[in-house]
Amino acid sequence: MIKVMTIFGTRPEAIKMAPVIGELRRHTNDIRTVVAVTAQHRQMLDQVLSLFHIVPDYDLDIMSQGQTLYDITTKALLGLQPVLAEEKPDLVLVHGDTTTTFAGALAAYYQRIPVGHVEAGLRTGNIYSPFPEEMNRKLTGGVASLHFAPTETAKANLLREQVQENHIFVTGNTVIDALMKTVSPNYRFADPVLQKIDFRTKKVILLTTHRRENLGEPMRHIYKALRAVTEEIGDAEIVFPVHRNPLVRRAVEEELAGAARVHLIDPLDYEPFANVMSRSYLIVTDSGGIQEEAPSLGKPVLVLRDTTERPEAVQAGTVRLIGTDKERVYTETKRLLTDSAAYDTMRRAVNPYGDGHAAARIAAAVLFATGKTASRPDEFHLSL
Ligand code: UD1
Ligand code: UDP
Repeated sequence: MIKVMTIFGTRPEAIKMAPVIGELRRHTNDIRTVVAVTAQHRQMLDQVLSLFHIVPDYDLDIMSQGQTLYDITTKALLGLQPVLAEEKPDLVLVHGDTTTTFAGALAAYYQRIPVGHVEAGLRTGNIYSPFPEEMNRKLTGGVASLHFAPTETAKANLLREQVQENHIFVTGNTVIDALMKTVSPNYRFADPVLQKIDFRTKKVILLTTHRRENLGEPMRHIYKALRAVTEEIGDAEIVFPVHRNPLVRRAVEEELAGAARVHLIDPLDYEPFANVMSRSYLIVTDSGGIQEEAPSLGKPVLVLRDTTERPEAVQAGTVRLIGTDKERVYTETKRLLTDSAAYDTMRRAVNPYGDGHAAARIAAAVLFATGKTASRPDEFHLSL
């Protein structure tokens, strides 16, 4: 029996680790699964834990309002020390690129516990964009001995950094596993605001913003541009689940409060959110995970960033990087609302990020790497 501890702390990590925990738990004869959360996020984490029926064995409850990177890093690192010392797992799994990811990997490394990195190898090549995620990924990659790369592109990035090829497993992204279990044409919204929106006749823009490098002026420019678009185009509506970061909330309040056909709501739980995505006309976002989910739903995405570590859907044509310049956000959004040919070329459903079996491949790779099975699992191959 091997003991595998998963460590995560934010909404997207939980969404993407939930399928992994589910698969690890299927191997009851070989794997004991322990779940530790830092709770870098609180409400946004808890809704995912509850949706996927995950009760953490350890909850560090570190979130504080307006927390800094120093707060998160030190609280997570110190909090994980006794947890790891008590459990002595054979392997720690961390996910992606948050500060919890990096602190979790470092905490395990200090106790010489091997680390597996889920969603390994994403890179922009710019350590300040996204900030601090690009560095969190690189540092976690430096610590990890197993790298679960979602795509061939991610694997190639790791090979360039001299990671040994036999330590890399191309698995697909587990977010597609989660999405496939969550989107349903029969889903009915409980939220009265969403119930009233006619997704069939209106052009609904789903908007999310939270990146640290977009806080301040860039976010204000985005909001001004989108406000202008909805004022001009009568059948456009914006659904904007506003992130709980107080800096995001302040800018939203100042720029968008009272704007016509702009629905400002609290962050949505994953199930309603995924189902809004599947029914909306267009997605405008600076999120990483949404760039992976929307292409499989056939939804065009305008990305409010200058770089992306997820180039596959840009190459496939369903995602376009537009940055945060006010004029550009206005023009690109308006074009997709008014030029049906431009819209149609972007709306193709593609699955560059996964086929729904990533978590099973990760569990199989864990068994292989720990000597429980003899054969290396099959890998995920991109299909466009
Ligand atoms: C974090 C991650 C980012 C990830 C994002 C996903 C870091 C440095 N950033 O950014 O990589 O893309 O999560 O959403 O790891 N808050 C609440 N309740 C919650 C969650 C957040 O009130 O459930 C508020 C708190 O005031 C908190 C603030 O939001 O201080 C920011 O949260 P934080 O985790 O520091 O950064 P995010 O921008 O969420
Ligand atoms: N998401 C959600 N509710 C929301 C906004 C996003 O459940 O109100 C989901 C979304 O479907 C995706 C993940 O959260 O799976 C992305 O999280 P976020 O954008 O916060 O982080 P990132 O992916 O940029 O790290």
